[in-house]
Amino acid sequence: MTVRFDGRVAIVTGAGGGLGRQHALGLAARGAKVVINDLGGTLDGNGGTPSAALVEEIRAAGGEAIASGASVTDLAAVQTMIGEAMQRWGRIDILVNNAGILRDKSFTKMDVADFRLVMDVHLMGAVHCCKAVWDIMRTQNYGRIVMTTSSSGLYGNFGQANYGAAKMALVGLMQTLSIEGAKNDIRVNCLAPTAATRMTENLMPEAVLKLLEPGAVTPGLLALVAEDAPTRAILCAGAGSFERAYVTLTEGIFVGQPSDAVDQVVERFGAISDRTAESVPESGSAQGTLEVGRAMRTLA
Ligand code: NAI
Repeated sequence: MTVRFDGRVAIVTGAGGGLGRQHALGLAARGAKVVINDLGGTLDGNGGTPSAALVEEIRAAGGEAIASGASVTDLAAVQTMIGEAMQRWGRIDILVNNAGILRDKSFTKMDVADFRLVMDVHLMGAVHCCKAVWDIMRTQNYGRIVMTTSSSGLYGNFGQANYGAAKMALVGLMQTLSIEGAKNDIRVNCLAPTAATRMTENLMPEAVLKLLEPGAVTPGLLALVAEDAPTRAILCAGAGSFERAYVTLTEGIFVGQPSDAVDQVVERFGAISDRTAESVPESGSAQGTLEVGRAMRTLA
């Protein structure tokens, strides 16, 4: 099987460098027309000008691409970008929400304004882009969206409370959009990359960075936006490895509502935490239904 994107139109945000650049090159090499979005700028999100170099590179290799300097934080600019792509190519099939910044600090030293900015770029940036393409994808009855999450969100990392919160918020966005998009074949997934980019160059030793080519993550991204893509998956990718993360639920225990319920919860926390019969509920309400169902069965 060869994954191809002929006739497909893709938008990659934050595609000026790092992972986004590799994703855009990977999509273009397999036939997609690509919007290269990047506002340029420094790692902490300041300043910058759009870069057209990647567009030239893709065109020189026989591909089709256009540049957009829109900041994903600016809804009107995002809408203009989508409008330009529609005008040129008439459809939007793939959205890769990849743009991001860092403002790392331990929580005690973290400024609330920096927290908001990180949320704004990662979470609201993705919301703006999803919102701008959503009805187009619904009308087409076709769409593939990826949110770039992070192990920092899934599992936590010292100094990344803002970034981790924003990245986990994207998992929540994906969970619901995958449900709402299903009937129009809009598949929504998360990618949790690990790669040597300017974002990680100060965090890891040289020998480790060598193993972490950004290009090693891109096959995972391409799989998540392919014709046969899964939906609602959280795919971890780095250094040639691919794993899947899940938000799981233990079987837990039924306590009922006796006066000593709190003591039972404390005493039986081990049983509540036992992962033997873990599951992944198909939705939030399915999890609630499990609880109600057990209460009804037990009390009947
Ligand atoms: P990077 O800093 O090379 O790429 C991020 C790009 O986003 C930059 O080119 C930047 O100009 C652009 N950008 C920033 N704010 C923007 C805005 N408001 N509008 C449009 N573009 C904007 O870093 P990297 O590593 O390639 O990051 C790509 C994505 O992967 C980010 O979402 C990052 O959080 C995520 N990630 C990266 C990991 C890694 O190991 N490198 C680990 C986990 C997640």
